Amino acid sequence: MASRPFIVGNWKMHGTRAMLSEARAIDRAAQRLMQVEIALAPPFTLIHPVRREAEQIGVGAQDCHPADGGAHTGDISASMVADAGAGFVILGHSERREGHGEKDKLIAEKAAAAFGAGLKVILCCGEPMEKREAGKAVDHVLRQLKASLPDTIEEVGERLTIAYEPIWAIGSGEAASIEDIVAMHTAIREFLVKTFGEEDGTAIRIIYGGSVNAENAAEIIAGDEVNGALVGGASLSAESFMNIVLAAQDVINNQS
Ligand code: 13P
Repeated sequence: MASRPFIVGNWKMHGTRAMLSEARAIDRAAQRLMQVEIALAPPFTLIHPVRREAEQIGVGAQDCHPADGGAHTGDISASMVADAGAGFVILGHSERREGHGEKDKLIAEKAAAAFGAGLKVILCCGEPMEKREAGKAVDHVLRQLKASLPDTIEEVGERLTIAYEPIWAIGSGEAASIEDIVAMHTAIREFLVKTFGEEDGTAIRIIYGGSVNAENAAEIIAGDEVNGALVGGASLSAESFMNIVLAAQDVINNQS
C-alpha cells in the first residue's frame, strides 16, 4: 500500500447540478484528511462546476476523444476536459469497452492524447468471469494493459494510475477476494517494473475497483500493492464515499 492512498469516485452517468452539494461536502471533509488523495470523476457536464466549488480534491473526466479537435459530433477532446478543469481522465473502463466497443488500440490513442494535453490517466483493466474461471485472469489483464498503453510514455510515474476492475465485481455488490486482488496487483506491478523500469514502475499507482464500500475498503486498501480504490456506486453520496476515505485513513494510521 502506498503511503498516501488514492481514492477516486467515478460518478458514471449520474449527477446534475443538484449533486454539487455532495461534491462540496466531500471537498470540505477532504480538507481534514490530507493523508488520503481524493478525487471525483463526475460527468462532463459537472467537471467545471465541481472544479469551481472544490479546493482540495482532484477532478477528472471519464473519457476523452483521441483527436484534439475536429468534426466529431458529440465527442470531447482531452484538451477540452483539461480546459474545463479536469486534471485526469479515466480511460478504458469496461463500460466503455462493452457499451461503446472500445478496443485497446483506441484506448492507447486516447491515453497518448490525454498525456499530450497534460492530463494524468487512470487506465482501467479487468477480466470477465469466464476468464477468471478458466484461470486466465492474469494473462487477460496483462495482455489488455500492454495493448492499451501508448507506445511512448516518458517519465510516467504518478501520471499513470492503473485501475484493476474485474468486470463481474462492478456494481454486483461482490468485490474480488483480497487474495485475488493482491495476486493481480502483484502481477501488474511486475509488468510495470519490467516495462517502465524500477523507479517509474513502482511509482505508478495500482488501485482496485468493483463493489468497494465502507465495510470492505480497509481490508482492500491495506492489501500489498493496492494503492487505493476506484469507487462507483458508493461515491455518489458524500457520506458513503467519505466512509471509504476514513477507512483508508485508518489503514495509514494503523501502519504508522
Ligand atoms: P462500483 O463501485 O459501483 O462497483 O463501480 C466500480 C467502478 O466501475 C468504478 O469505476
